[in-house]
Amino acid sequence: MSEKQIKAIRGFNDLLSPMARRWSQAEQILQEILENWRYQEIRLPIMEKTELFCRGIGENTDIVGKEMYTFADKSDESVTLRPEGTAGVVRAYVENKLYNELAPQRVWYRGPMFRYERPQKGRYRQFHQLGVEVFGETEATIDAETIALGYTMLVELGIAAGVTIEINNIGCPQCRPGYRQALVAFLNARRKHLCENCVERIEKNPLRVLDCKNPECQAQVASAPTIDEHRCESCAAHYGALQIYLDAYGVPYQRNPFMVRGLDYYVGTAFEFTTSLLGSQNAIGGGGRYDGLVEDLGGPATAAVGFAFGMERVMLLVEHFDSLQADLSLDFYIGYTENTFTLQGLQALRALRALGKTCELDTRQRSVKNIFKRGDRLGARHVVLIGGDEAAGNFFTVKELATGEQRQVPLAELAKLP
Ligand code: HAM
Repeated sequence: MSEKQIKAIRGFNDLLSPMARRWSQAEQILQEILENWRYQEIRLPIMEKTELFCRGIGENTDIVGKEMYTFADKSDESVTLRPEGTAGVVRAYVENKLYNELAPQRVWYRGPMFRYERPQKGRYRQFHQLGVEVFGETEATIDAETIALGYTMLVELGIAAGVTIEINNIGCPQCRPGYRQALVAFLNARRKHLCENCVERIEKNPLRVLDCKNPECQAQVASAPTIDEHRCESCAAHYGALQIYLDAYGVPYQRNPFMVRGLDYYVGTAFEFTTSLLGSQNAIGGGGRYDGLVEDLGGPATAAVGFAFGMERVMLLVEHFDSLQADLSLDFYIGYTENTFTLQGLQALRALRALGKTCELDTRQRSVKNIFKRGDRLGARHVVLIGGDEAAGNFFTVKELATGEQRQVPLAELAKLP
């Protein structure tokens, strides 16, 4: 390896074909579903003022505390590469006064996000999300719609069999403090059995202890009080309605009273799309309700709910199930034995492309043997050969590689080949 070589930044990946082609296919499928469900695309900056994320996601979260790509730009303003999409969407919703339009507003986005985490399979420092956000509706109908939308996407990508949908209602400002108190008391009594991180979390963010991956912490929280016993009437009713609607949509789900999310803005509904097929990175997507965020970021009080898929993890499942075809087919490869025949080749190329055939014209002359060899390596269905006889007689020799069948045809008949 030359010392002149410059490598990519750790955790930032190249995406090459055929995987890049699979991604495009998946994105096309997802976009079609989103349009069908009447979600509008929005494209937002990948960098925002740091304060947006500090206020939006929460100072005590891992994301804001440890994982942001934050730096001062040339005018000494603190800016941050977006670690997620929701805060930016809310910023744009408020800034562009989208709340003046007919509610609920449904939007979707996709693009790169950045978190300084320890890279491993399924976890990167630059990764991609495809997400949706819906503004202006408190009813559980819309929570159910977003979950059903996510489920439909997984079905259409052919990976639903590998995914479990976990739902919870994590309470609201009315009932969560009571639960928090009960949980803190429970955790305090078990401090010496918890990992260092979790001991710290007891004061700052006790719900996150429920989510710790450390087996000892997990063993402790197994008997912790759950939000199920603490929800207020309104949260309990909302949660009940959500389940009725999900049943009506035919969406399979599991209730998980220990499921919490890593961002502070959630209230009420929280959900996650999880898989056991990707090792420790088991969340392929997640979301929930964040009714207070629009107001916290300077807009009018507006209910909101949404989720985002991590596309790398979605695509690892697509690969696992081999559910999308990644091959780029080549209908015709056109070769010629002398450079002076290039123009006949170009003629054939233009005629075939105009008919929507995929084709490639060679860039230089080759022997007949090499033309067929190359056509084979390219995986072409047909090889079009232009040699001396063909050029003089104004026809093409076309061989179908699968059958070995060979014929001589004039230009007008090229495209009629099967
Ligand atoms: P999140 O759970 O932080 O939620 O991220 C959503 C998904 O992004 C995760 O489930 C995971 O698949 C993927 N992801 C996160 N970090 C990484 C990483 N380092 N490498 C690869 N994939 C990753 C949010 O970001 C919320 N904004 C979702 C939301 C939208 N809530 C409401 N609306």
